[in-house]
Amino acid sequence: MFALKVFLLRCYMIIFKYVVMILPFKWPTTFDGAGSAKDLCKHIAGEGHKKVLIVTDAMLVQLGLIDPIKAELEAQGVESLIYDGVKPDPTVEQIEAGFDTYKKEGCDGLLAIGGGSSIDAAKVIGARAKNNKPIRKMTGLFRVFGGMAPLYAIPTTAGTGSEVTIAAVVSDPEAQRKLPMMDLSLMPDACALDGTLMTGLPAPITSATGMDALTHAVEAYISRAANSKTDALALEAAQMIMANLPTAVADGGNVEARQAMTSASCKAGKAFTQAGVGYVHAIAHNFGALYHTPHGLANAIVMPYVLDFSLPKCASRLADLARACDIGSGSDEDRAKAFIARIREMNETFGIPTKLDALKANDIPQIAKAALEEARFTYAVPRYLDQRGCEDLVAKILPV
Ligand SMILES: NC(=O)c1ccc[n+]([C@@H]2O[C@H](COP(=O)([O-])OP(=O)(O)OC[C@H]3O[C@@H](n4cnc5c(N)ncnc54)[C@H](O)[C@@H]3O)[C@@H](O)[C@H]2O)c1
Ligand SMILES: [Fe+2]
Repeated sequence: MFALKVFLLRCYMIIFKYVVMILPFKWPTTFDGAGSAKDLCKHIAGEGHKKVLIVTDAMLVQLGLIDPIKAELEAQGVESLIYDGVKPDPTVEQIEAGFDTYKKEGCDGLLAIGGGSSIDAAKVIGARAKNNKPIRKMTGLFRVFGGMAPLYAIPTTAGTGSEVTIAAVVSDPEAQRKLPMMDLSLMPDACALDGTLMTGLPAPITSATGMDALTHAVEAYISRAANSKTDALALEAAQMIMANLPTAVADGGNVEARQAMTSASCKAGKAFTQAGVGYVHAIAHNFGALYHTPHGLANAIVMPYVLDFSLPKCASRLADLARACDIGSGSDEDRAKAFIARIREMNETFGIPTKLDALKANDIPQIAKAALEEARFTYAVPRYLDQRGCEDLVAKILPV
């Protein structure tokens, strides 16, 4: 029975892969380099905007990251106001509050400045501005029919790649679920990759978000929906992350490492928005929804376990990643194992645990069910899990 289900899912995923290959992705105009946030402000003015809503979180306002960008917009003749009500894993309510401000103030565009939480919140505010329907009715695949308000993005973490993805993740605290929204119109119009904005990012957030970017590259590369373009992006991203993340964590002020990380995270974002992610994300999203585990941290903890399980069906792909990062030697299987071992070593160096303290045995059946549901029709994973297999895998992460 399970074998038949897997066969049918594989057939579905082949169709999915070719549909994705012909989807008209419209990549954002990208300004890449130290200080490029200013170039994006000029671009926004050039697009004729009169009043934009800056969507961000209170921490970034406090850190003084927003004021210089707001001043630059004003110098370019664009009025702006700040909505800083976004919190990590933005909720429907926080997004609705941002949308109220957008509407009341007569804004004509959105500038997201922040991590994935702020960029995702701005995406959904933009979707809300053009679609007269509740947020929960737009979650899922291709349900944002009315388009989007103009959206510009400046990531301040190097992790989610949300500045180049067609996804936004909304938290529904009532249902204790994270609701992914995927639609071509959620792609920002332009973005700036400016490593200078990341030099104050604390080491634990740098490592967790960096491991999120690595997860995107790895899951996109081992996905059965990968193609030659996503392969090139994923391999380059993985190599850049392995080479620069340890420096960015140990020496946060190193602008070169920060710039390389934001570039790599963007490449990984482009790869996974086409090839998809996999069980690492499916399980990690549920840790986030139930225990508020930060997204990158949850991915970092889960990734080695999912890769151990997947290895028999993707040894050569993991070996390619290892070769690109100059890790290991010998057969594909040896290289693949060395690659997984390196991920474990990186986690250890960064102080990322091997178990999730918050995880409760009683929650495992529910986590496994939700993860399998999320993955079933969207992630072309190399090796499929059934309910029992997924429960066993998650149980390995229980605290001892
Ligand atoms: N849309 C997508 O394609 C996509 C992909 C993966 C994850 N996500 C979502 O993105 C969210 C996570 O985003 P994230 O990992 O970037 O974290 P985040 O946006 O939640 O930010 C985490 C913390 O870092 C702080 N921070 C951000 N930039 C900083 C800086 N430069 N200096 C100091 N502090 C800074 C923030 O204030 C916040 O407290 C989750 O909701 C996740 O589900 C979206
Ligand atoms: Fe992610």
